[in-house]
Amino acid sequence: MATWSAPGKIFLFGEHAVVYGKPGIAMAIKPRVMVTVRKAKRQKKPNSSYIAECFRQMGVSGSVYVRSQLPSSSGLGSSAAVTVATLFAINDEFDIGKSPEELSSLAHIVEKNVQKGRASATDTYVSTVGGMVLITGNTKRRLPPQPIQLVIGNSLTHHNTSEMVGKVAELKRTRPQIADPIIDAIAAVTRCSMHHFNNPRELGNLMNMNHALLDALGVGHPQISRLVLAARAAGALGAKVTGAGGGGCMFALCSKSAKTRVAGAIEACDARAIITTIDTQGVRKE
Ligand code: PMV
Repeated sequence: MATWSAPGKIFLFGEHAVVYGKPGIAMAIKPRVMVTVRKAKRQKKPNSSYIAECFRQMGVSGSVYVRSQLPSSSGLGSSAAVTVATLFAINDEFDIGKSPEELSSLAHIVEKNVQKGRASATDTYVSTVGGMVLITGNTKRRLPPQPIQLVIGNSLTHHNTSEMVGKVAELKRTRPQIADPIIDAIAAVTRCSMHHFNNPRELGNLMNMNHALLDALGVGHPQISRLVLAARAAGALGAKVTGAGGGGCMFALCSKSAKTRVAGAIEACDARAIITTIDTQGVRKE
């Protein structure tokens, strides 16, 4: 029996633009998914298509038990965390001997196969290595971790990543003269943020800009907008949607002293707040 865990993530900057080779910055967060794998003669059909695809890719059969601190389909990378933890647990339980790099690439393949579409390597990479990462096309780079204080707001409305990625692709196809400059502007905000990680106020402003640009791309949701505005009014330095949008989660960048107030404002909007910070550890054996 082997148990491995992997962290969830938020997109600090650049979701959607990252699908088109622009830079994206993601950060691992404390809530995790724990996966236990045990050898079995026959594969019991797992509830998750991600887990089924992990076993298929590794060419073995086993049983799985999952415990998750992350809401699913919400922009916190729960499917990537499940995929990464499952692949590492299978590798360990069956002594397959793949390297962490091979498993991380395989996790990206699993996500792409299940989502039947474009998926950047952001979620699976950050879930593997933890901390903060910069993704640009096929290049992945770890950034120096920052003590970023966050309140996540779960709107309790699920989203579908492939649907939202498809929506942006459709806008790019039908209105490239509008969509392309918005995507370029998101990339400019992401690049600018790299110079302001030690300036929370400026970082917050850039997050607000990124949020507005994602709204303009058509991946907003009324409940997410409500949470973003409530968090800012309660003293957050900045707030934005995270992940594909169209529902799911937002987060607010806060000073330590404002975290509880911002969490209260989010909960007062019929949403769930998670006070958290960076997790510098990626996938690990439990
Ligand atoms: O909602 P999530 O956590 O699946 O994030 C999706 C982020 C996108 O940039 C929209 C797609 C991707 O694969 O990077």
